[in-house]
Amino acid sequence: MKKIIMQPSGKEIDCPAGETVLFVLEKQGYALPNNCRAGACGECKIKVLSGKFDQGFIMDMALSQEDRKKGYGLMCMAKPVSDVLEIEFGTEDAQPKLFPPVEDSWHIVTDKIHRTDKILDLKLSPLGKPIKFWPGQYAMIGDDDSNHPLRPYSIANAPKGNGELSFIITHEEGGKTSPWIHNEVNVGDHIKINAPYGTFLGDPNVDTPILCLASGSGLAPILSLLNAYLSRGHKNPVTLLFSAKTHNDLLHFGEIKYLESKYINFKYKYTLTQESNKSGALEGRIDKVLPNLFSDLSNHSIYIAGGILFVKSCKQIVNSLGAKEELLHMEEYFAQQI
Ligand code: FES
Repeated sequence: MKKIIMQPSGKEIDCPAGETVLFVLEKQGYALPNNCRAGACGECKIKVLSGKFDQGFIMDMALSQEDRKKGYGLMCMAKPVSDVLEIEFGTEDAQPKLFPPVEDSWHIVTDKIHRTDKILDLKLSPLGKPIKFWPGQYAMIGDDDSNHPLRPYSIANAPKGNGELSFIITHEEGGKTSPWIHNEVNVGDHIKINAPYGTFLGDPNVDTPILCLASGSGLAPILSLLNAYLSRGHKNPVTLLFSAKTHNDLLHFGEIKYLESKYINFKYKYTLTQESNKSGALEGRIDKVLPNLFSDLSNHSIYIAGGILFVKSCKQIVNSLGAKEELLHMEEYFAQQI
């Protein structure tokens, strides 16, 4: 058994051989930001103060050579090699605040609805104890026994007492897990999941207007956050701007229109990038339409979720409109791991 010491708090946690630092931190309820769990996004970067670790295979763009020289590592792939690994983990973050993930939690598939050629909704109900999670978190779904590796999928609903979980799953050509879910997993099947993970969380105490930007299955964590904020009685304006190719790609259209009717402070805007003259729709990419909706985003909490390029272009445009770094939350989807 190895030991991880978090500094400056000095708290210690045990790390079984072969486990990653991220895995054991989460197991103990510590909130280390992460997104891809595959050494591709750089979210889980941490400075290692002493000790040795095996970094595993990570992408150059996720951790620069300069950062490596300074002792930084990506904790989603880092496994301690020395008996003690000392890491820098801010006092503020070094507080247990997430629900520890549950592994191999059996669920039954209660619904599977194809929304478009490539996207479906999957609903699961727990066969044991419901999983506790924060809105915006994700689950790992897959079946290692049949060579369908566990992959992260955001939970698309706010927590419910009955433990129901819903997901929006895009069929990725060349992937192993999403084609399995699309083609082989059926209503009534029992599947195992691990959850919850991730730190794309809403701050329940935030007292600002909220802007959510999403495309494709990036809508999933946004739906979870929106439902949580609105049902908790968030008083400030809440806006969702969803980007779709055509009207047929407007996922969960009815459900979101229902929220708009129910909550006076919620506005649903959508923009179509490959269709014009549709009533109610804006036209063009988000970087084109956003400045017409908002001139100053300096007091907004902003949530962005979607593919890498989508998130990157949204980040640029919200920054140009004055978004504050500390109020900006992003969740990128990496096609290679889906
Ligand atoms: S690089 Fe570690 S979570 Fe993405």
